[in-house]
Amino acid sequence: MLQLTGPLGLSGAMADWDLVLTNARVATMRDDSAGYGALEEAAIAIADGKIAWLGPMNKLPGKEAQETRSIKDCWVTPALIDCHTHLVFGGDRAPEYEQRLQGVSYEQLAKSGGGILATVRATRDADIDTLYDNGLRRLRALAASGVATVEIKSGYGLTVASELKMLGVARNLGQASGLSVQTSLLAAHTVPPEYAGKADQYIDLIINEMLPEVVEHKLADAVDAYCETIAYDAPQVAKLFRAAQDQGLRVKLHADQLSDSGGAELAARFKALSADHIEYSNEAGIRAMAKAGTTAVLLPGAYLTLGETRQPPVLQLREHGVAIAIATDCNPGTSPLCSMPLAMALASRLFSMTPEECLAGATREAAKALGLAHDRGTIETGKRADLAIWDIEHPRDLSYWMGRAPLRQLLIEGLALS
Ligand code: NIG
Ligand code: FE
Repeated sequence: MLQLTGPLGLSGAMADWDLVLTNARVATMRDDSAGYGALEEAAIAIADGKIAWLGPMNKLPGKEAQETRSIKDCWVTPALIDCHTHLVFGGDRAPEYEQRLQGVSYEQLAKSGGGILATVRATRDADIDTLYDNGLRRLRALAASGVATVEIKSGYGLTVASELKMLGVARNLGQASGLSVQTSLLAAHTVPPEYAGKADQYIDLIINEMLPEVVEHKLADAVDAYCETIAYDAPQVAKLFRAAQDQGLRVKLHADQLSDSGGAELAARFKALSADHIEYSNEAGIRAMAKAGTTAVLLPGAYLTLGETRQPPVLQLREHGVAIAIATDCNPGTSPLCSMPLAMALASRLFSMTPEECLAGATREAAKALGLAHDRGTIETGKRADLAIWDIEHPRDLSYWMGRAPLRQLLIEGLALS
């Protein structure tokens, strides 16, 4: 069990503030400031889980604080946000990984009943406790890498009961772990074996039977789909998205991962929160995303594991002003990755992103991909006090090191996660 601890007592009862961090070097990552939005010799005051004051130490108002902590020589960044994971699943696919090293492709495995379907079998068979325990281990690893907010998708159940089971486990993980968990219904991840050759009927099942349950029990914050030759085509996804939006849910899309399936344009047409992967997206799609305010989520772990050579169109994304987020895509098939700083390190190397873009992609832009930019992703007064305190010389170090997350402490709504 992960635990949140902090100074005893509530602000207001005894003191104005719960916690004040002093002697801080802060990468605020504010949208309107270059150079990481850095502040040196700064203080951050926290009350009721939110940032109550931020500024130079010599301007710190003389208010009473429950606890004051000097964090000299550390950098504070917004806590990291992993905006795309599939971290609840049964079994693993390490044997397939070995086959792929021998030259068998991801598509070949998918077509012969392996790939996502192998995890579907294992997830359907897994009981809730096993899914929960294994999910918690992966969440713990992410938290140890500085992550406070995690999105978790369903998509390895593909029946009403097992998709609900996955989302229920994800919701429980959110309640018990101390991390903030956002969930997405990804029932349109692949065509379940029972519906082989009848994908349209399965889309109807999602719309008529899964969505109403998910909405009634508030099990998902968004609906995702996989638009690809080995999954669903654009008209099928569009039908699902219309139904999701009718029920008040936001949408996001696995788009153009293996081929240009018009995914970026489709996502933009529905003003999706994000279009994810997008290695094969075309420029018209990127332009449409910019216009729609759809965030690009780049997933270097999947790119690396699939041996992909086509890079996501980073230059075009920059040119058209599309927000670029980075995520782990933590999943058993294409990205068994449980560290956001490692995802940043990979994105900088594989996609030629600057360390500043990588940190923005793991904080401010990731918040946009989840529709949560109003309350997290940057260090600003009024936002959640979700802060990562790092033993680093400079924020660029987070993308420079590989496999080392020099986290001193993670605060979630002002409380230390231990
Ligand atoms: O994001 N693209 C589809 N979904 C996952 C892979 C899931 C799996 O192979 O189990 C992805 O790469
Ligand atoms: Fe994914």
